Amino acid sequence: MIDYVSHKLAVAPMMDWTDRHCRAFHRALTRRALLYTEMVTADAVLHGDRDRLIGFSPVEHPVALQLGGAEPERLARAAAIGARAGYDEINLNVGCPSDRVQSGRFGACLMREPALVASLWSAMAGAAPDIPVTVKHRLGVDDQDPEQSLFAFVEAVANAGCTTFIVHARKAWLEGLSPKENREIPPLDYALVHRLKRARPDLTIVLNGGLRDVADARDHGAGLDGAMLGRAAYQRPAVLMDVDPLVFGEAAPSASLIEAVERHLPYLARGLAAGTPLHAMARPMLGLFHGLPGGRLWRRRISEDAPRRGAGLEVIHAALAEMGAATRAPATVG
Ligand SMILES: Cc1cc2nc3c(=O)[nH]c(=O)nc-3n(C[C@H](O)[C@H](O)[C@H](O)COP(=O)(O)O)c2cc1C
Repeated sequence: MIDYVSHKLAVAPMMDWTDRHCRAFHRALTRRALLYTEMVTADAVLHGDRDRLIGFSPVEHPVALQLGGAEPERLARAAAIGARAGYDEINLNVGCPSDRVQSGRFGACLMREPALVASLWSAMAGAAPDIPVTVKHRLGVDDQDPEQSLFAFVEAVANAGCTTFIVHARKAWLEGLSPKENREIPPLDYALVHRLKRARPDLTIVLNGGLRDVADARDHGAGLDGAMLGRAAYQRPAVLMDVDPLVFGEAAPSASLIEAVERHLPYLARGLAAGTPLHAMARPMLGLFHGLPGGRLWRRRISEDAPRRGAGLEVIHAALAEMGAATRAPATVG
């Protein structure tokens, strides 16, 4: 394990979003945020194309692999593979409400089965003894009373030995709401997460859900051990420029957003040389200048030109040149 893993500020696991290209790009904005993979099921790790599913580049450290599953033995084997691959942490998903996940009886529906989650955690921790094994979960599901479900869940899993809990501070409704609605409609309850921390000061409790930026994460996470940004970090990656200075008292890796893009160019060049299409690597960069002069032009230029056959770094250079002009112009409309 590397010594700079901290839960003070993390970027959430987000399926189809936080792939390896996204994580590598986020490293041009923050060295210190703990980055999470998309959820990968234990079965996929065991039987799928391992390089495609869990491959990552060294620049991504510190990086955590999120696993989904409900079978101790398979999760243990997948956790061991993740640890051997060099991940700094393994995380178990107890928060995802999608039908596909429910039919496999894992994700958020495991909030109803704390004893099972405790045994899953034990199996995974036994198989990956040198790195932290953590759990990301909800307050409860469906008609559960969160006061009860959250505390009972954490108690059972902590009794097995888990010390780090990342709490998406809302319930999930498994019937009737889509995964997207389940990230928006059930109300956030940060106060309950703070009560959990007061009841269990010995545990590392990380707050997730609805945090807009690093300052917001610091405000709502005060008294807790850390905060996790999801959609804000993907849709407005510029927010990550605040992580190193505000949370860790260190300089950000890049002095400006334009410099962050320039810092990322060698990664893009290596990917192109290895046959990775530009648009797959550039997609997480689309929102970089969101809300800033030229931001829409940047998004349009890259989303139109990166998917073209044979598109290369010239697309990024052209978009950068336009951004440079836009940021120099006194009254450009973004
Ligand atoms: C596109 C998308 C995919 C997600 N995929 C996962 C996932 O694979 N595993 C997981 O635990 N949570 C997943 N989530 C939930 C986020 O990790 C996070 O808990 C949620 O978005 C709330 O945080 P936010 O309000 O900061 O976005 C996903 C969220 C989004 C928007």
